[in-house]
Amino acid sequence: MTHQIKSLAEYKSAYKKSVDNPEEFWAEQAETFTWKEKWSSVLNWNFDEPNIKWFEGAKLNITENCLDRHIEDRGDQTAILWEPNEIDGEVKKYTYKELLSEVCRCANGLKALGIGKGDRVVFYMPMVPELAIGVLACARIGAVHSVVFAGFSAQALADRINDATAKAVICSDFNKRGVKNIPVKQVVDDALDKGCPSIDFVLVHKNTGDQIKIDSKIDKWWHEECDEQSEVCEPELMDAEDMLFILYTSGSTGKPKGVVHTCGGYMVYSCYTFKNVFQYEDGDIYWCTADIGWITGHSYIVYGPLLAGATTVMFEGVPTFPDAGRFWQICEKHKVNQFYTAPTAIRALMAKGDDIPAKYDLSSIKMLGSVGEPINEEAWHWYDKHIGKGKAPIIDTWWQTETGGIMITPLPGITDTKPTYASYPMPGIQTLLMDADGNEVRGNNVEGLLCVKFPWPSILRTTYGDHERCKQTYFSTFDGMYFTGDGARRDEEGRIRVIGRVDDVINVSGHRMGTAEVENAINEHHNVIESAVVGYPHDIKGQGIYAYVIVDEEGVSKENLSNEIKAVVTKEIGPIAKPDKIQVVHGLPKTRSGKIMRRILRKIASGDTSGLGDTSTLLNPDIVDSIKAGAI
Ligand code: PRX
Repeated sequence: MTHQIKSLAEYKSAYKKSVDNPEEFWAEQAETFTWKEKWSSVLNWNFDEPNIKWFEGAKLNITENCLDRHIEDRGDQTAILWEPNEIDGEVKKYTYKELLSEVCRCANGLKALGIGKGDRVVFYMPMVPELAIGVLACARIGAVHSVVFAGFSAQALADRINDATAKAVICSDFNKRGVKNIPVKQVVDDALDKGCPSIDFVLVHKNTGDQIKIDSKIDKWWHEECDEQSEVCEPELMDAEDMLFILYTSGSTGKPKGVVHTCGGYMVYSCYTFKNVFQYEDGDIYWCTADIGWITGHSYIVYGPLLAGATTVMFEGVPTFPDAGRFWQICEKHKVNQFYTAPTAIRALMAKGDDIPAKYDLSSIKMLGSVGEPINEEAWHWYDKHIGKGKAPIIDTWWQTETGGIMITPLPGITDTKPTYASYPMPGIQTLLMDADGNEVRGNNVEGLLCVKFPWPSILRTTYGDHERCKQTYFSTFDGMYFTGDGARRDEEGRIRVIGRVDDVINVSGHRMGTAEVENAINEHHNVIESAVVGYPHDIKGQGIYAYVIVDEEGVSKENLSNEIKAVVTKEIGPIAKPDKIQVVHGLPKTRSGKIMRRILRKIASGDTSGLGDTSTLLNPDIVDSIKAGAI
């Protein structure tokens, strides 16, 4: 297992070594894993193409490190502790031994169905143990998993299946979330109806047992294909730089892109950060509330914790079912030691009142993590006072799908914490701030664009099927640097606070949405001529979606328009992308070259109509007053 930092002096010396001698530093971490063959070089890289290779020549299988390696020491320890949606439902526990057997059965089943090394398999599943099992089964046989969050629409699912040219989809019949019973398999059927020629079969896990339509030519039942398989499956020998998974995420332009992570570097970094950021000790119960459909679930429900031999809690339900005490009830019930959630959940639960967490014994909690969006002061203090009782440090972790693991964070009990500050880079992470002209912003008490100037083991390698897009998006803004898309501030003592995106990406409840993606969806409405979408401050969600639309008003009822637009967006992307506010406008403020001036739209959406700056250069300056007048 990777090394654990235990003091400020150790953090400082690890950081220094990681900068002075990165290859030696990461080789030392990597040595602690099981490799079938050692690397010939630790790191080869350039950020121009980009071409980044960690542990080249090494051979491994990540599941051997997640599972087999632990059997001797902790075979009977719980690996996954699954808490169902229903409060009185049956908790399921998988020991490391049992998890290995289940993963092997599923891996053998997938193999028998024709899945092999390099094939892409899409998951569209709720938070059931079979999702983690299936993902690991793919990794076992060298297939590339691509998990699609089960809240995305059939269209969004089809787009991702086709971009990845996936050979199979693995799904469940239905999904229980709170009081809802969601027809998951039906969404897969609808996606395939849109045309997914690469799909050979759909493997269906019987979750609720509710009636579904089965097409015997394409649909296979998990229990029929996997349950009788052998519980032994030799791990496929993978190159350190072979693909482990693709995860789609939104960017500022066009369709979502498939971020590619590879086996060796991702393994080393997800485990290193898990052990250090959560200060996980043997016997601890660790819970991350994310969904495996997002990167947080990949790195900090599945891979990081299992690589470190931890007990990781997986929760099927939602924070407000049966009531807003559910998270705290689960913490009490399982004596959770490390709790990791998103600011949007904290704000939503905070709004329900302080008396709710007060009903539960939260004394097992040693640290509290936050991820996904900036955490505001009020939420930070509430989390600290009412959940951590002032005794559990708040660990505000900044990172991205593209970074694979946590990049900037305090370390509990080791570095200090300050409300709203992600604070300090992890060892190996060389961050810096740049100005728009490409100069480094030095010193403290400054703001700039957040970049990283040296590779770390789990940096994205490419965007699937479009390397040029990867280069343009992340490596072309500043020479020789990875650009995060975020703006940040450095305080008097050098702590970093990540303020938010500086591109056209909105962060809604911790979910990344591209404005162009939402606009394309809105434009599918037959009366919409043009639209522009911006984010605005939202009390619970962090940012809400504000849409300005120009419509052909003929035959359209004003009342219905808003609902219809929301329905179109739900159909094209999913309910998470639904605009919160829709304003009908007669024009959009545009520059003479036809570019929408989003700066003005953002200000109006935020309710601040003073000082809109110079609008005289607009093609249509008069439109600004009419948009202001109609603002919601
Ligand atoms: O803007 C930053 C914000 O979320 C973006 C990454 O989103 P995603 O790839 O979906 O990954 C989310 C989970 C790792 C970042 O560019 N973000 C994430 N964590 C923080 C944050 N903003 C401020 N503070 C954070 N702790």
